[in-house]
Amino acid sequence: MEKLVIEGGRKLFGEVTISGAKNAALPLIAASLLAPGVHTLHNVPDLRDTRTILRLLVSLGLSWERTGSTLKIDGTGLSCSEASYDLVKTMRASVLVLGPLLARLGRAKVSLPGGCAIGARPINFHLMGFEQLGVSCDIKHGYVDARIDGRMHGGTVYFDVPSVTGTENLIMAASLAKGTTVIKNAAREPEIGNLIEMLVSMGADIEGRDSSRLTIHGVEQLQAAENHITPDRIETGTYAMAIGAAGGDAVIRSCNPSHLPSLLDKLRLTGIDVEAAEDSLRIRSSNKNPLQAVDITTMPYPGYPTDLQAQFMALMSMSSGLSVIHETIFENRFMHVAELKRMGANINIDGRIAMVKGLGGKVLTGAQVMATDLRASSSLVVAGLAAKGRTEVSRIYHLERGYENMVGKLTGLGAVVWKEDE
Ligand code: EPZ
Repeated sequence: MEKLVIEGGRKLFGEVTISGAKNAALPLIAASLLAPGVHTLHNVPDLRDTRTILRLLVSLGLSWERTGSTLKIDGTGLSCSEASYDLVKTMRASVLVLGPLLARLGRAKVSLPGGCAIGARPINFHLMGFEQLGVSCDIKHGYVDARIDGRMHGGTVYFDVPSVTGTENLIMAASLAKGTTVIKNAAREPEIGNLIEMLVSMGADIEGRDSSRLTIHGVEQLQAAENHITPDRIETGTYAMAIGAAGGDAVIRSCNPSHLPSLLDKLRLTGIDVEAAEDSLRIRSSNKNPLQAVDITTMPYPGYPTDLQAQFMALMSMSSGLSVIHETIFENRFMHVAELKRMGANINIDGRIAMVKGLGGKVLTGAQVMATDLRASSSLVVAGLAAKGRTEVSRIYHLERGYENMVGKLTGLGAVVWKEDE
């Protein structure tokens, strides 16, 4: 396994270019199962997770080729409806093939994804939604065995919690159902809007994009089309907080600041200077004075993203006061706390609340730390860039699931960082 080594305490300057969003690429790649023919996707990040879902699609009979950040996927050869355990266990987003397989084949056998470091991550809302469309879902031997004779029919789906991949699965299934489906309390993340854009370009009839009430009028069939992956708002927020924590003056390019309404407001409250243009962000942070302590509560979009909670905690660990961080989405998303404390952070957890007592003028100190999940590992990188001395982040395969070329991008900002075998 590899580790990331960071010589911290250097300010960051220059530019960094954001890649396509992992959490848009995964559903849009899965959507290529919905129609034969060659689907073209531009701005696709090359990540461990995108390679995993492409391996899954090949196991189902599809083929693909990549030229730079453009991916061409041929949906013609779909011949299998079973997603195996050894693929699904490495990436729970594999459940996104359920909706398309049911829509195209009327059958889907997908290993239950199981939990992960941040929580149990059930998919009951997905299955309840499919049942509203006439599908029977059985759970046997660790697999979801879902089937329907003929086409799904329209129905009304209500999400108790606005599930992101649950909404995506149901939109894809309903696009080819017979009749109209209404999804209430749908998630509104920008990646869902990107998926709707792709499905409409394929001939789907969907109303209510970006709202919590979606109406999908099913069509007989869809056609392959050409689409673009939206910029990764979580990668954008991660680099904005890296610059904020380490100090410096840098521009984040090929991003979409309008997808980060709550983060940018919170960063400004800490005293970081944020200048937003249409597709770029300029972040300035002089660590002459420590940042102001600011509270956050994670919420479904457009609230503060849970995927940027760990990074914000790293930033607040050097603030001038007490920051209260409330994680409302996942039950176990504080795995980074123990590691940040090894770098000198002063954090106490009470259930889903973390109380971060900023170090004031003092900085964190570099240490050997361990990545436990994707976003926890990026918070350790943010901390390591600001910390005095050397930080070594082990198990960086977590990081490579969701951040394309992080070493190259950080080096481009003037950071001293490299990979080594553990
Ligand atoms: C998506 O996961 C993202 N992944 C996650 O990003 C992100 O953290 C999450 O949405 C929340 O924004 C992808 O888009 C591939 P949910 P998802 O269904 O869809 C509960 C990252 O770091 N729930 O919106 O799995 C669930 O346990 C990853 O890039 C049920 O109870 O999340 C959670 O508490 C991590 N039953 C809440 O709802 C269900 O059937 C929100 O989960 C589904 C969800």
